[in-house]
Amino acid sequence: MDAVIKVGGSLAKTPEKLKALGLMLSELARKYTITIVPGGGQFADAVRDFDRRFALSSQLAHRMAILGMDQYGLALTQIIPNSKATYQLKDAHKLAAAGVALIFLPSQLMFKDDPLENSWDVTSDSIAAYLAKRLHAAKLLLVTDVDGIFTEDPKKYANASLIERLTAAELLRLDRRTSVDCKLPKLLLESQVKCYVVNGAYPERVRAILAGQHTICTLITRGLK
Ligand SMILES: Nc1ncnc2c1ncn2[C@@H]1O[C@H](COP(=O)(O)OP(=O)(O)OP(=O)(O)O)[C@@H](O)[C@H]1O
Ligand SMILES: [Mg+2]
Repeated sequence: MDAVIKVGGSLAKTPEKLKALGLMLSELARKYTITIVPGGGQFADAVRDFDRRFALSSQLAHRMAILGMDQYGLALTQIIPNSKATYQLKDAHKLAAAGVALIFLPSQLMFKDDPLENSWDVTSDSIAAYLAKRLHAAKLLLVTDVDGIFTEDPKKYANASLIERLTAAELLRLDRRTSVDCKLPKLLLESQVKCYVVNGAYPERVRAILAGQHTICTLITRGLK
């Protein structure tokens, strides 16, 4: 598998941008073997809200949030041309090799195998990293609505600067809220995958990463820089 590409729910706030990204992903699926993993977006946020009010058990909240990823994934089947959704990991290699933009709906696999901690530290970023490992993907792209990981939240601090490259150990030590979840660095430490955090509002950056070209993003590597 060339790449697992997580499409962040944050991009759904700007439908035109998400549609443009969808066209690009459809095109890239003809050239590369890719598996698209949906983020949780507003569907997971609805679970967060419900959890705040009802103090759900961590297993319930985790499972409901994963169902949120399924929901966004189903929506993506309409947004990404020539795409197909599946719950089966074994379909991924076959369909990806056939040029289909494969969207993996994670609930059935995650409910059955339950490989990750059930907590809000594990979101679609960690689930995508887990899937990248299972699929032996060379690259993991976390496509979001900002240019990568910054020193501070770029939406709140105008002078935040983009971190172009860091190791998983450095990300772990950052120990603050970024655009990726808290468990991701630990999973990346155990994996060979190269992880890129990239802005989906610029679909050509996603293309550049798959083509091995330099572009604006954050690259998280396992080992030393
Ligand atoms: N240090 C940081 N660097 C980059 N973004 C940050 C940082 N701290 C906070 N953020 C925020 O993280 C947001 C992206 O993460 P968020 O989880 O909201 O979206 P997503 O991962 O694309 O979507 P989803 O979680 O639904 O898949 C950005 O819009 C940004 O405002
Ligand atoms: Mg997120």
